[in-house]
Amino acid sequence: MSPILTPPRIPGRRFLHSPGPTPLPDAVLHAMSQQPMDLADPRVDANIAACEDGLRRLLNSPAADVFFFAANGHGAWEAVVENVADLGATVLVAGTGHFSESWAVQTEALGRQVLRTPWREGWPIDASAIEQALRDDRGHAVQAVFAVHTDTASSLSSDLAAIRRAIDAAGHPALLVVDVVASAGAAPFDMDALGVDVAMGASQKGLMCPPGVGWVAVKARGMAAARANPAPRFYWDWVRRRDDLSYRKFCGTPPQNLLFGLEAALGLIFSEGLPAVHARHALLAGAVHAAVEGWASAGALGFFARDAAARSVSVTTITVPPGTDVEALRSVARERFQVSMAGGLGPLAGRAFRIGHLGDCNPAMVLGALGGVEAALRVQGIAVGDGVTRAVQHLAQGAA
Ligand SMILES: Cc1ncc(COP(=O)(O)O)c(C=O)c1O
Repeated sequence: MSPILTPPRIPGRRFLHSPGPTPLPDAVLHAMSQQPMDLADPRVDANIAACEDGLRRLLNSPAADVFFFAANGHGAWEAVVENVADLGATVLVAGTGHFSESWAVQTEALGRQVLRTPWREGWPIDASAIEQALRDDRGHAVQAVFAVHTDTASSLSSDLAAIRRAIDAAGHPALLVVDVVASAGAAPFDMDALGVDVAMGASQKGLMCPPGVGWVAVKARGMAAARANPAPRFYWDWVRRRDDLSYRKFCGTPPQNLLFGLEAALGLIFSEGLPAVHARHALLAGAVHAAVEGWASAGALGFFARDAAARSVSVTTITVPPGTDVEALRSVARERFQVSMAGGLGPLAGRAFRIGHLGDCNPAMVLGALGGVEAALRVQGIAVGDGVTRAVQHLAQGAA
């Protein structure tokens, strides 16, 4: 029998502190454990409408079109590329590290040209480089600017208002497309106030659902670009999906049980209140940052994010000394102390580990995770100062 079907008993719960997938609230699990429905059942349409409305409310964009895909974040990236850029057309990808580069590589694989702004390790997006690149594009060949709000690998969040100002200052008509995979439901994001034309995300992080639903929210200029775009496409086509029939909206059968979960998760977010959700994430991130400062006082560990103001509320990337076996550290944390955390990605592989602190998370969970990580660091002989005490102090001083 597979270890998934007959897992070895562990007492209590293993704490999941990867930055996605994140733990599922009981209400989401319960909502998903229903029988699917026949496609003409009016509850199917009501569930889809609740998910669409909930996302519009989360993003503060009441008039946006929302499209869901039975896909992960890469699927939603693909949907963006296929709709906003014609074959052979150019997009500008703002450098944030691993995730901007992955999106750029996928965009090139789909037959589009990519301009990249440089990425400086430890720093968020350089809006002035975007402005310069767009000023240099006198013929307005660039059809869209792709920006990752929170790069889950670097754990840096970028200033989207500055990016909007950069595009406007250059007087460039490019669409602004933002990846909020790692920030939606964790950090403030006001699509309309920021002048974002397209936002894309996925279910498995701040939205507290299993992986499997990718989505885009598209405003009028984004829809106009999709309508004018002759590039061949079918499953991802926003124009084809703009339909009242749920079967057409989903280009086939909707992933119903995931959508039951998503409706429940959005309900949890709004019953807590969006400002309270953001404040909770900021408080918990502050506790993790306090712990990292404590650990780093012994000289071995450090923050990857050099710009403290840009450290994300979702995840923290912690650098380790050369030669550290990060996979062994993760394994001790997971198997001995029941704390799952993530490793370094892309250029940070082997150089860092990451603690996720987003989604269905509270102070006790964060303290437990930090305690487990600190214990694993000590077992592995990595010099650390007292981090957990600093996190406790941060939470004790924080807002109720
Ligand atoms: C910021 C960001 N964008 C896109 C993705 C890709 O999402 P997925 O792994 O669901 O394809 C991720 C995944 O972690 C991410 O963190």
